[in-house]
Amino acid sequence: MANELNLRENQDIQGDVLAGFKKDQMTLLFLTFEDQARARVWLQRLTPRIATTKQVAAFNKAFSEARKRSGGDPKALKATWLGLSFTYAGLEKLAGEVPGRDRSNPEPGSETDSTMAAFEQGPVLRSSHLGDTGANAPDNWVFGNHRQDPNKIIHAVLTIASDTAEDLQAELVAQREAAQEFKITILFQQNAATLSGTRRGKEHFGFKDGVSEPGMHGFDEPDPLQPEWVKGHPGTRIIPAGEFVVGHPRVEDRPNDLPAWAFNGSFQVVRRLGQDVPSWWAQVARLLKELKDKKAVPQETTAEWLAARLVGRWRSGTPVAKCPHADTPFNTVASDDNDITFRDDPDGLITPLFSHLRKTNPRDGLNVLPESDDPKEKNPLSEDPFIDSRRIIRRGSPYGHPFDPAIEGPGGPDAPRGLLFISYQSDLLRQFEFIQKSWIDNENFPPGRPHKPGSDPMVGGNGDISWPDGDIPLSFEQFVQTQGAVYAFSPSISTLKTLSEGRLADTPQPALGRPLDTFLPIGDMHGVEGKSWYWAFHTVGGQQRYRAVSIAHGNDHTDVQERPDREVSQWDSFEGITRIDCIVPFPDRQPENGKRWYWVFHTLGNQQVYRTVSIADGRDHADEIERPDAPLNAWESLQGVTKVDFFLPVPDMQPEQGTQKSWYWVFHTVGADQLYRVVSIAHDDQHADVQERPDRRISEWDSFAGIDRITTVLPFPDPGPNRSLTYYWVFHRDQYRINTIANGSGHLDEVAVPDRPVTLWKSLAANP
Ligand code: HEM
Repeated sequence: MANELNLRENQDIQGDVLAGFKKDQMTLLFLTFEDQARARVWLQRLTPRIATTKQVAAFNKAFSEARKRSGGDPKALKATWLGLSFTYAGLEKLAGEVPGRDRSNPEPGSETDSTMAAFEQGPVLRSSHLGDTGANAPDNWVFGNHRQDPNKIIHAVLTIASDTAEDLQAELVAQREAAQEFKITILFQQNAATLSGTRRGKEHFGFKDGVSEPGMHGFDEPDPLQPEWVKGHPGTRIIPAGEFVVGHPRVEDRPNDLPAWAFNGSFQVVRRLGQDVPSWWAQVARLLKELKDKKAVPQETTAEWLAARLVGRWRSGTPVAKCPHADTPFNTVASDDNDITFRDDPDGLITPLFSHLRKTNPRDGLNVLPESDDPKEKNPLSEDPFIDSRRIIRRGSPYGHPFDPAIEGPGGPDAPRGLLFISYQSDLLRQFEFIQKSWIDNENFPPGRPHKPGSDPMVGGNGDISWPDGDIPLSFEQFVQTQGAVYAFSPSISTLKTLSEGRLADTPQPALGRPLDTFLPIGDMHGVEGKSWYWAFHTVGGQQRYRAVSIAHGNDHTDVQERPDREVSQWDSFEGITRIDCIVPFPDRQPENGKRWYWVFHTLGNQQVYRTVSIADGRDHADEIERPDAPLNAWESLQGVTKVDFFLPVPDMQPEQGTQKSWYWVFHTVGADQLYRVVSIAHDDQHADVQERPDRRISEWDSFAGIDRITTVLPFPDPGPNRSLTYYWVFHRDQYRINTIANGSGHLDEVAVPDRPVTLWKSLAANP
């Protein structure tokens, strides 16, 4: 199981995104860089301090285990975390230009609108589109509106999160000093903190917050009986991590066309949402009176009852859908229950359609089309994948002191307070903006109901709605006000490093989730009946699989899928492996005593290791582990290598030529670059390996022109038309080309057949 949760070990993705800082004290510093060179040095110094997913996940696990043991918060376990995100202007300031920019500058909401355009435009230019008008307009914001002063453009958002106010303060002092040293101005400081006492875990209106968060594949352990849910959290669906972290598999394997620098990063939305608590509750009282006057609710109905219907949960967090009548301490339903269905409540008679819960996550409540006679008829929009791809990760916290009626009273002074809303998503348009615009603010959402549902009365705009039971018209005023907004991007740690050197990688993202990973020739099925067989390893929805394929010898190399896809875990020798990167046949022992030997390079957590396996000749191809996993540095020739991509045998320096050792080009990845070096492996028991030539860039090869990253290279199974050349299929991204390498010193290489789409390989087609 530990291996399957490989994202928990990730040291490249920032810690707040998947793991979540979840601290009582949080401060956001909105920064502007005066001096590009100094800001880069500042970033270089700060990067090692930015919290990673691995650190935060490990801390959170230890914290919750200690809490279970002691029954309270373990005071001895403390941490202060830092997170860093950049606005578009900030990336541009540090790197000069932002690769992947949407040059079409589309209108917000138009057909050609894109996440990159939204990121560049930012919330000010998108304010009309997002309903940030009137009292919510940027002119009233305390941060994020730089229209009047170009020196006040936010470049970065530094998050400091701590268990205690003292620790936070100490870090804040250090960060202020660092900012001063590197000519960085703090434009605004936004503090936030969990409320204390009985209000702990609640937002200012008094309701438990942070209850419903998505689970993530590779991060959250699935429930053994209901694997689409997080273990111990019924109803919390596990969603592909690519919805939140760029470059990972997404719902239905949708592509994400963001540039390489965005890989392992996440878009961060920050909004300061002021809450006018007394007025909101006064409105609840006014609405309640109206409903009572019209006899739409019984006279003994409480304000609590009505407020819970605006939210969708009671103050405790208990869902109204499960406990419609009252929020009692005797509820059998847990306050963090997410196993909620709205399927039987299509018109919102129990949980109103306008409730914050149904507006921000309609779940299965879209399933029934009211005009249909058949309550089971499904609305295609409401399939799980549709809802899953709209989820966001919320990491916000309240700011300001709680409302105290004794001091402020109804109509009394209202202190600044509200929610510092923070969300992470990989797509600004289809996640945050969609929820805000198409659901929260859209009076007609959900569509096709007998009465217009109205906008979200907790956070949405002013408007009229019909009380579902009796069609009573009610008018709402908005008591949540946008007071600041920023679109930022939390880059991976590796991108922070390149950014501090003034660069942003512009090659497309690494080959995660691409169809083909590597080939393994089936040793005893080479040239059998005019064809050679291979196992082709490939990734579907984040899971690696393999299938047997064959390639005919001869001119046209017809390829056929011979066996269906199977899980990699079917192999005994691949036990514990989640992702195979490449498999290298021993230069000798092909076979020895009926077995063929291989080195298998695979990724464990965030680290590549290798093991030795053997596969027996014969029908069953029985396989076993010969030597367990060992670190890469056990290879003399791979010193300094962290990720081997593939070995390419040097054509005329192999056992067939009577050599004592075999030579290889070893292709490997360093940061965003692919390099190669020459190594040799002796044909003896020790297989002594030597690095024969230093690392060079793949651009040194003529035949790799235009390729930024090679997935793998497969030699032809038979000699090609010219016997002094060796022919290869070179797979890169979703293309392949045929290259040749000439025998003899210099090993001249050439493109024989230019790029074509991999889809031309019938044997590698996606299976239904
Ligand atoms: C002052 C403003 C807001 C307040 C006081 C507030 C409060 C709450 C509360 C009490 C819950 C229920 C508990 C929970 O599931 O965590 C909730 C859920 C949620 N809120 Fe908000 N919220 C605010 C703004 C927003 C905004 C602007 C968005 C998105 C654009 C949003 C998105 C969500 C989502 C996605 C959920 C989870 C719904 C579910 O899965 O059941 N909220 N919020």
